[in-house]
Amino acid sequence: MSIFILGIESSCDDTSAAVTEDTCILANFTANQDIHKKFGGVVPELASRAHQQNIIPVIEHALKHANIDKNQLNAIAFTNGPGLLGSLLVGTSFAKAFALGLNIPLIGIDHIQAHVMAHFIQRVNEKKDIPEFPFLCLLISGGHTQIIKVIDHFKMDVIGQTIDDAAGEAFDKSAKILGLPYPGGPLIDKFAKEGDPKKFIFPHPSIAKLDFSFSGLKTSILYFIREQHNKDNEFIEKNKVDLCASIQKTITDILIQKLEKAVKMTGIKQVAIAGGVSANSGIRSALLKKQDTDGWKVFIPDLEFCTDNAAMIAVTGYFKYLQKEFTLQDISPYSRSKFK
Ligand code: KG4
Ligand code: ZN
Repeated sequence: MSIFILGIESSCDDTSAAVTEDTCILANFTANQDIHKKFGGVVPELASRAHQQNIIPVIEHALKHANIDKNQLNAIAFTNGPGLLGSLLVGTSFAKAFALGLNIPLIGIDHIQAHVMAHFIQRVNEKKDIPEFPFLCLLISGGHTQIIKVIDHFKMDVIGQTIDDAAGEAFDKSAKILGLPYPGGPLIDKFAKEGDPKKFIFPHPSIAKLDFSFSGLKTSILYFIREQHNKDNEFIEKNKVDLCASIQKTITDILIQKLEKAVKMTGIKQVAIAGGVSANSGIRSALLKKQDTDGWKVFIPDLEFCTDNAAMIAVTGYFKYLQKEFTLQDISPYSRSKFK
């Protein structure tokens, strides 16, 4: 018998709802919040208000598109943390009330674990290769940069992580220095396609073990741009595509070099990426190359499942449902990651 799960994601500035039948995605809808663009970053208070406006239409839309009546649902899975508390509260409160009203189980999901679990999402009539355990997952998002050894659906060991900025912040802060709007990551990716990645050389941090650091890169880009701008105030405009390509290449090289080290240390050659930054075309192609050059088996999520989405929440909910790992009504959201 099929298990139908409604997934709800509201940890940051995307309100998303998805319906799954086992691991197969029947609908996945996200309402983005454009309001933050003019503030250069996510404004928590505005995010919670927009979630309140979006949540019911997004869920209704997902159920309708999936052609599933709410009474057919077996459980409600929702993001319980980490994230912005006001944003999480909207999804959490809705999920609690809906599960109570339908008299079905409630399943709290960790957002970071769900990004990794995006690799288990299947589409209707399309069988996708899924990683075997154990595998390595480079989780790169706006708030996190971690190398995770995934032992099974629930056991995940963080074997390396950033000591300061996340990879997404490195993209977004560099973009801000170039005068690009928030979130700048996708724009750097877009302009990088036309630029020369070897035109400008930025330093690589030397950080022990499998850890990362991106704050020095941001500072060196800032100083370099300031110096060039003093000589020619059109420097950024004239060199925009080359600057983007060079920044993207530097971040990509830093990430890939640490992954190489992780593969060597663990002997695990199945390597996955997850999180918003895994949408980056430079990182995706650098990783794909490793299949040919180093014999890695690489797993890259569809773009729809890289950035925040409820499909990954629903699929994680499915695996928890099988284990009967249900959540009580007195659960409250948490802001900081439990994966350390
Ligand atoms: O996972 P996500 O959607 O939200 C968090 O949980 O943080 O990640 C958002 C991050 C932002 O920093 C955004 O700039 C970055 O992912 N991002 C990208 C691309 N698409 C999204 N960075 C580089 N290239 C992209 N194509
Ligand atoms: Zn995320």
